[in-house]
Amino acid sequence: MPLDILVGAQWGDEGKGRITDWLAERANIVARYSGGDNAGHTVTVGGQIFKLHLLPSGIVQPKAACVLGNGMVINPARLLDEMDTLAKLNMDVSPARIKISAAAHLITPAHVALDRAEETARAGGKIGTTGRGIGPAYTAKTSRHGLRAELLLEPERLGDAIHEHIQQTNVYLQSLYGQAPLEAGAVAAEYAAHAQRLAPYITDTSLYLHQQLQAGATVIAEGAQGTLLDIDHGTYPYVTSSSPTSGGVFSGLGVGPRFVGRIIGVTKAFQTRVGEGPFPTEAFGAEAERLRGTGQNPWDEFGTTTGRPRRCGWLDLVLLRYAIRVNGLTELALTKLDVLSGLKTVPLCNAYSAHPQTHTELPLGPADLSPFKAVYEELPGWEEAVSGARALANLPANARHYIRRIEELTGVPVTMISVGPEREQIIFTA
Ligand code: GDP
Ligand code: IMO
Ligand code: MG
Repeated sequence: MPLDILVGAQWGDEGKGRITDWLAERANIVARYSGGDNAGHTVTVGGQIFKLHLLPSGIVQPKAACVLGNGMVINPARLLDEMDTLAKLNMDVSPARIKISAAAHLITPAHVALDRAEETARAGGKIGTTGRGIGPAYTAKTSRHGLRAELLLEPERLGDAIHEHIQQTNVYLQSLYGQAPLEAGAVAAEYAAHAQRLAPYITDTSLYLHQQLQAGATVIAEGAQGTLLDIDHGTYPYVTSSSPTSGGVFSGLGVGPRFVGRIIGVTKAFQTRVGEGPFPTEAFGAEAERLRGTGQNPWDEFGTTTGRPRRCGWLDLVLLRYAIRVNGLTELALTKLDVLSGLKTVPLCNAYSAHPQTHTELPLGPADLSPFKAVYEELPGWEEAVSGARALANLPANARHYIRRIEELTGVPVTMISVGPEREQIIFTA
């Protein structure tokens, strides 16, 4: 009856979707526990690309049930769009399969408008949010003004709550940010229509998960974003507003830790970040372009949700060890190894220098990384393409050496190596 947890070990976009998809084939339930449609998780099956924002990536497999947990913030319009797109592909998106927590919070157009207005007005520079209303929805939740999904079951209360919420937000939008007000009646009508469609999906997902785990089900808790975007443990304030780390699973799903089996951290074989904030191993110019790609391949480093070019650099083991510690990772899944083929040497950051000292651990967490300069080991590269490899033995010796070095310097085994976006492009080491 395991609850296996999968988290991003970096700044998001590590390839969580493709690893979740693989795990989902062998699981009964996949549950998202945090974030909203700021997430963009890609699953590739026979050249067909699925981009999931709110639905767990397990939806692409035919059987796994999917849970949207109470830790999420859900934009109903975007969720219905996602369901409609998948339904057209003959996928089962019925309430028998998808369960939404009554305690999840709803995102409205007012949260989206506030997110954009706050970004524009932010003193000290932008965070570079996805503009999906995530921060304002979580702010509403913690300030106890939020709209919970349970309202979708009660049309009258929903209408009143939307009116009050829009009127309050209009005060901020108009007086603080000089924006046009939203029309409460129109939003209320829109949400009444969403409620009609979504009501059958709303349930107590904590109870459902508990009963399923007790009965022996395998549940995958699918993280969104990544450790370094965590509201507590990330590069604050350049973070998202939720808890993507493993701790967020228990509050975000309403299950206790006693069911936990594996805790898998997904990391790219290099490092990327989208949006603002510190990035000690960031590469620039031709080096960065080499990692990013030009956008010709579907996996090139451009945001799944916003299309923004991702900042690219070298794998940072100081931050990876931090992610291992904060999440209690039992193993690593290493993705996009194929992208490194053809490099003469591969830089691997194992320490930071802050004159006159060298640090292999962060002295004060990752919020202020400005004093640090990355110190690299230069590992020998490999020429050969690895996208056809299906066993460790098929990898060039230098690629195996790179992986071994990551294991040695982190103390955690790499159990999965992904060498391309397709389902079968994955190597298991155990
Ligand atoms: P997520 O948000 O963590 O699920 O990751 P994204 O889907 O945002 O970004 C990962 C991108 O890399 C997607 O385009 C995936 O299809 C792609 N991808 C995942 N694993 C691999 C891999 O091993 N090799 C290559 N070339 N692409 C991969
Ligand atoms: P997945 O699940 C990468 C980043 C944004 C911004 C910061 C705050 O696909 O890995 P927000 O809209 O959440 O308030 O933005 O967090 N961010 C992500 N970066 N992948 C994601 O999700 C992200 N979700 C948010 O770019 O820097
Ligand atoms: Mg993504």
